Amino acid sequence: MLWSALFLLSLLPGLSHGILLEKFQDLKRNKFDFVVIGGGNAGNTVANRLTENPDYHVLVLEAGGSNENVLLSMVPKFCVETIGSAIDWNYTAQGGPVLNRDMDYPRGFILGGSSSVNCMIYTRGTREDWDRYANVTGDSGWSWDNIQPYVRKNERFTPPFDGHNTTGEFDPSVHSFDGMNSVTLSGLRHQLDTQVIQASKAVGNDSDFRFVLDMNSGNHLGIGFGQSTVLNGTRSSSATSYLGPQYINRPNLHVLLHAHVTRILSTGTAKNDLTFQGVELSQDSGATVHTVSATKEVVLSAGSIATPQILMNSGIGDRKTLTNLGIQTVHHLPSVGQNLTEQPLLSYNWVVTANDTDSEAARNATLAAEQLKQWNDTRSGPLANAPGLDLGWFRLPANASIFEEFEDPSPGPNTAHIEIQFVNGGFSLETPLPNLIGANPALLCPTSRMSHSFSS
Ligand SMILES: *[C@@H]1O[C@H](CO)[C@@H](O)[C@H](O)[C@H]1NC(C)=O
Ligand SMILES: *[C@@H]1O[C@H](CO)[C@@H](O)[C@H](O)[C@H]1NC(C)=O
Ligand SMILES: *[C@@H]1O[C@H](CO)[C@@H](O)[C@H](O)[C@H]1NC(C)=O
Ligand SMILES: *[C@@H]1O[C@H](CO)[C@@H](O)[C@H](O)[C@H]1NC(C)=O
Ligand SMILES: *[C@@H]1O[C@H](CO)[C@@H](O)[C@H](O)[C@H]1NC(C)=O
Ligand SMILES: *[C@@H]1O[C@H](CO)[C@@H](O)[C@H](O)[C@H]1NC(C)=O
Ligand SMILES: *[C@@H]1O[C@H](CO)[C@@H](O)[C@H](O)[C@H]1NC(C)=O
Ligand SMILES: *[C@@H]1O[C@H](CO)[C@@H](O)[C@H](O)[C@H]1NC(C)=O
Ligand SMILES: *[C@@H]1O[C@H](CO)[C@@H](O)[C@H](O)[C@H]1NC(C)=O
Ligand SMILES: *[C@@H]1O[C@H](CO)[C@@H](O)[C@H](O)[C@H]1NC(C)=O
Repeated sequence: MLWSALFLLSLLPGLSHGILLEKFQDLKRNKFDFVVIGGGNAGNTVANRLTENPDYHVLVLEAGGSNENVLLSMVPKFCVETIGSAIDWNYTAQGGPVLNRDMDYPRGFILGGSSSVNCMIYTRGTREDWDRYANVTGDSGWSWDNIQPYVRKNERFTPPFDGHNTTGEFDPSVHSFDGMNSVTLSGLRHQLDTQVIQASKAVGNDSDFRFVLDMNSGNHLGIGFGQSTVLNGTRSSSATSYLGPQYINRPNLHVLLHAHVTRILSTGTAKNDLTFQGVELSQDSGATVHTVSATKEVVLSAGSIATPQILMNSGIGDRKTLTNLGIQTVHHLPSVGQNLTEQPLLSYNWVVTANDTDSEAARNATLAAEQLKQWNDTRSGPLANAPGLDLGWFRLPANASIFEEFEDPSPGPNTAHIEIQFVNGGFSLETPLPNLIGANPALLCPTSRMSHSFSS
């Protein structure tokens, strides 16, 4: 009786140990059709699509751990607390001589990558942004029109957790309802957010602060309801969607956690043959080194920081930089680790008279515990919303004096220079913490660029 029950258990795919593998030794093979380095946005999407073909064995290598049951990642309102936590890479951005200060540079150290730690704001950019990508790359596949089918394959617009009627909060015609990654409007709207929207409707359509029904239509200027990658009050990430329960059991999909990839390995035999089908990794800071190989392709999708780092470790980068680091150059490619564009955000907070802001939970542990219990019991309440509720998109006036000296860095007249995220609550050094609203501006078209800094 006991034996047959055990036998049955071992046949049930969902119950067999090791769907998300923790140890290299648990891998049943070391040759795959594809090896995907980095289980973030790109990697999980590619792994999901490739394993639709049952003949392809795909291995995803993720440096971080599992996202399952990680409260910091699951609870939307906790996203800011992931910074500097166990699921952050803890990178630092050096401000350079103008800013003269260092900043946290959060990146997700967990399955799902930064989609498991970001604040879930769902914005697509504008038609002009994408058409410029097409122009710069010379590949019309990147244009707004040509990218929309993929946007729609990704998106599944779902009702907010409180189930309220969302007519007038978005334009259904520009959304998809049957994709992979959930996008939703906020539930339980706060008085402050309603006031932001009311003000935008009151100022009239000639104002820069006018109401925009859907900022993801390709034209975003104005103020409107924010959309977030949240499903039923819980974060929707590339791990919960593309590696979700209906996919993770595919026998040809293999995911290894705690796998730090150090290098991709050249397997070309002829001179100057730049074929890289080997991947070197370690799970114990380099004490034990393992290799796996891809018979078809290695997909390097480790993010904007780790991808160039792995390339340079592998000898692909600027020859002079590599030589200084004691790395033999396999392929001289000076642009690796250069020209990263980032959109910095500032946190601006104002004290408000409204007395039911998120600041209350920040200063009242009993209330915070009640909110967590409510989220845990029913996936609802203040913690079930991502923090950015309404967003605004603005341009400098065309006659602004800065344009006498500098060319407009935006891709066109319908694309914002500045985004403002309206947030319930915020940061202050005052005690007790006052009731706050944040109106946080982000610079959308910076002309400065970042580069990797290494010390040998
Ligand atoms: C980031 O810092 C936290 C807190 O010290 C730590 O738990 C975590 O392991 C660090 N992340 C990495 C990738 O080392
Ligand atoms: C990009 O835009 C410029 C300026 O409009 C134009 O001259 C150029 O031909 C475009 N390039 C491509 C590849 O579309
Ligand atoms: C939602 O509200 C709109 C406009 O107020 C109304 O036309 C529509 O019938 C409502 N939908 C539902 C499901 O109640
Ligand atoms: C602004 O335009 C929208 C739609 O184009 C219209 O419904 C609304 O009444 C206009 N608002 C004002 C204040 O004119
Ligand atoms: C989300 O909630 C709705 C309504 O309760 C339910 O029908 C749906 O199955 C839920 N989705 C998931 C993925 O849990
Ligand atoms: C960085 O980008 C600029 C502008 O596109 C380009 O001129 C420059 O060559 C790039 N630098 C490197 C190192 O690739
Ligand atoms: C909160 O504000 C409401 C309405 O202004 C007021 O009636 C109530 O007394 C305030 N509560 C606290 C605890 O200050
Ligand atoms: C803290 O929150 C609890 C639970 O909502 C409430 O009963 C209590 O009055 C609050 N304390 C203060 C000082 O506002
Ligand atoms: C959440 O609910 C589970 C049971 O579903 C319970 O074990 C856990 O302690 C709860 N956590 C919190 C923070 O309430
Ligand atoms: C820009 O134009 C507006 C009117 O459209 C005018 O009020 C403002 O003074 C002008 N600013 C500059 C810097 O010329």
